[in-house]
Amino acid sequence: MSYLDKFKNITIKEDAIILGIETSCDETAVAIVKGGREILADEIISSATEHARFGGVVPEIASRGHTTAILTATENALKNANLTFDDIDAIAVTEGAGLLGALLVGVSFAKTLAFALNKPLIPVNHIRGHISASCLADKDLKPPFITILASGGHTCIVDVKDYYNMNILGSTIDDAVGEAFDKVARILGLNYPGGPNVERLAKLGENSIKLPKMLSHYEGCKYDFSYSGLKTAVINYVHTEEQKGNEVKKEDVACSFQTSAIEVLIEKALMAVKETGYKTITVSGGVGANGYLRQRLTEETTKLGLNLVLPEKRYCTDNGAMIASEGYLQYKNKKFADLTLNAKAVIPFK
Ligand code: KG4
Ligand code: ZN
Repeated sequence: MSYLDKFKNITIKEDAIILGIETSCDETAVAIVKGGREILADEIISSATEHARFGGVVPEIASRGHTTAILTATENALKNANLTFDDIDAIAVTEGAGLLGALLVGVSFAKTLAFALNKPLIPVNHIRGHISASCLADKDLKPPFITILASGGHTCIVDVKDYYNMNILGSTIDDAVGEAFDKVARILGLNYPGGPNVERLAKLGENSIKLPKMLSHYEGCKYDFSYSGLKTAVINYVHTEEQKGNEVKKEDVACSFQTSAIEVLIEKALMAVKETGYKTITVSGGVGANGYLRQRLTEETTKLGLNLVLPEKRYCTDNGAMIASEGYLQYKNKKFADLTLNAKAVIPFK
């Protein structure tokens, strides 16, 4: 009997306990989640400070970080949940998208665990994991809803018709919004990771610099985004002012950039709820931790009487709980992998 065949006829438990492993970038994250929504443990060991001096994630350093941290993160998760491996029903792991070497550490570890413990192995799409983080924030959340997916690699408005049927209404045609935050941070001389540092500086400034409004009312791509032009406009502004010998008010640049980058996300999400008639918006991905986005969305959804689900900031950025939560949804459909599972740098949204 093949490894996969062993689990074809297992009884699916409503309150299954899933171990979720995430190693797609610089966070080694391991969490234990019950019934897809109750977090029993949540460990994150980050190598972010080691990347800061290089101004961005160095893939080799990230992979090495995972190899040294993954066992400790797993042991800590079990200890903090007061559980043993025997209590775990299945192992979920991010198979992609992400840094290949980094993903490989998590996938190899998960395969070894699953084989040794004789438990099902669940491959998880990182982006779907981000969307599932909303299930941790609102235990009663049910599709349909619109999610703003805004991370370092993705920017989309997604129509979540149900958890197994999602439709991307539009996405970025060039840079992702998180990537734009990171690049603008560099121009402003701020450390990696750029997003939180731009946000901190923006709080001290004003939205006083005129920047282009992106694909705002464009026919045919009304849900699409373009962040490359906005980033270039910021670079041009800073260089031109420097050449003129003017003092660049960095806090105003940060605030003006943040306002342009975020407002378009809100505008398009509101357009999507209006068009679909849905009543709920959720936020997914690292940029969802942005305070300005959270505040503006709260204001707009309150005005319109819409339901807003904002995962805790910790669950917007990469974490293991979102992988365990998404793993639970896949577990319910017995979407298990066999031991040939491989890491994938790029993976279609499915
Ligand atoms: O989802 P995530 O942790 O990793 C990816 O899957 O990409 O997102 C990371 C991105 C980075 O670009 C980071 O700068 C951005 O999210 N980010 C933020 C904030 N916190 C993280 N961007 C704006 N404001 C924040 N507070
Ligand atoms: Zn992510």
